[in-house]
Amino acid sequence: MSSSSSLLTILGLLLSTFPPLTNSDLPPLYPKAALPTESGYLPINTSSSAALFFAFYEAQKPLSPLASTPLLVWLQGGPGCSSMVGNLFELGPWLISDDLLLSPNPFSWNRRFALLFIDSPLGTGFSSASSPVSIPGEQPTVAAHLFSAIQSFLSSHPLSFRSRPLFLTGESYAGKYVPAAAYHILRQNPIFPPPLRINLAGVAIGNGLTHPTAQIGTHASAAYFAGLINDRQRAKLEDLQNDATALARAGKWLEAADARGLVLEWLQNATGLATLYDLTKKKPYATAKLTVFLNREEVKAALGAKKETTWVECSKAVSHVMKKDIMKSVKFMVEEVVKNSRVLLYQGIFDLRDGVASTEAWMKEMNWEGIGSFLDAERRVWRVEGEVAGYLQKWGNLTHVVVSGAGHLVPADQGRSTQAMIEGWVLKSGDFGEEEEEEKDFSLRRSE
Ligand SMILES: *[C@@H]1O[C@H](CO)[C@@H](O)[C@H](O)[C@H]1NC(C)=O
Ligand SMILES: *[C@@H]1O[C@H](CO)[C@@H](O)[C@H](O)[C@H]1NC(C)=O
Ligand SMILES: *[C@@H]1O[C@H](CO)[C@@H](O)[C@H](O)[C@H]1NC(C)=O
Repeated sequence: MSSSSSLLTILGLLLSTFPPLTNSDLPPLYPKAALPTESGYLPINTSSSAALFFAFYEAQKPLSPLASTPLLVWLQGGPGCSSMVGNLFELGPWLISDDLLLSPNPFSWNRRFALLFIDSPLGTGFSSASSPVSIPGEQPTVAAHLFSAIQSFLSSHPLSFRSRPLFLTGESYAGKYVPAAAYHILRQNPIFPPPLRINLAGVAIGNGLTHPTAQIGTHASAAYFAGLINDRQRAKLEDLQNDATALARAGKWLEAADARGLVLEWLQNATGLATLYDLTKKKPYATAKLTVFLNREEVKAALGAKKETTWVECSKAVSHVMKKDIMKSVKFMVEEVVKNSRVLLYQGIFDLRDGVASTEAWMKEMNWEGIGSFLDAERRVWRVEGEVAGYLQKWGNLTHVVVSGAGHLVPADQGRSTQAMIEGWVLKSGDFGEEEEEEKDFSLRRSE
């Protein structure tokens, strides 16, 4: 045996013991089981290629035939943050772990309902804009694009999808998008033939920004009563808040947005917190790993996202274009929606940006015939599996939920309670049922 042939034998032995690693031997970044039922792009304009990215997950354990199983649309905030944050970090069926692996989420919102995540407005997440000028700067245009995208989605499915009750949900800046899209649907439906209407059943908003001039006025007291600032600081912060409100009242939208930014920056400096999104957290929400994960070619290919699009969690281009919108109100749109469908407003109790006091401030200003009865309604302790999950107040079409132990990204902090909340509210079951009204009907009937 020559030395070269024995070397080959040894090499051969080595190779058979340690076969070369190929790509297919590595665990896939996107396991098949975790893939959305469908994902890709929904066209929004027949005369251009503009489209919004979506990821759709059918219900895992629906309680009814699919034709009557609710369909929930989820919209992220920002402006300009991708709904893939909601999907993979908060409420989707698979959540990302620190080592960039996906694992099943037992508290997913698609246990009973279908879930449709949409990256909106154009320019957000995987919904790349062909140029900065195609990014919409106003709610009515954002809403029109969403309307077209939802219509595209429904049209590409069996007719039975049209009868599914549709709920618009979202958090933070979606406190603007959700009412605007619902308002648009209510306006558009009558001009469409009945089979092409959108079966809007309700809207749900978590820690939303909806009526900023009322909301901006609450930061100083919220921080003061949480013990985070003293009386002198409170007075200073109130001055800054008043500046923001005055600029908004004068229609100076860019200056008003800057003034709001100053309020939050000042509060951040004064408190030194890791994040204003949750006064109890020692670190900000760990969403940065999504940027690494979603920009892997393999992941983009699995999701059907455009290869050339760089995914960013929150688009600076979109927030820049939408800056004039920041201090504008959509309260009048909520007023229209609550008269025609159901509204759920929920907040994580630890949020210092769009928290409980901030929401209560504008709810009180709602111009709706039911608001007096709502404000008179008892706020009840809400329990999930025997533990206090938060507080619940409701009357007629309006429900308000405070979620204990949660900051701004409520489903990320309290998956179990949040799943119980969305299922209870959509299905009108348990604490979210209509027993008082039913009792009233019953006593009326008896006295007849
Ligand atoms: C659709 O695209 C055309 C051409 O780019 C544009 O002029 C029009 O404003 C767009 N329509 C909407 C609703 O965005
Ligand atoms: C917050 O602190 C930074 C760093 O010290 C400073 O540059 C900034 O001006 C402060 N902002 C406000 C609103 O006080
Ligand atoms: C609640 O919504 C329903 C439609 O779902 C509507 O008929 C009713 O008038 C609304 N109630 C109030 C008080 O606005």
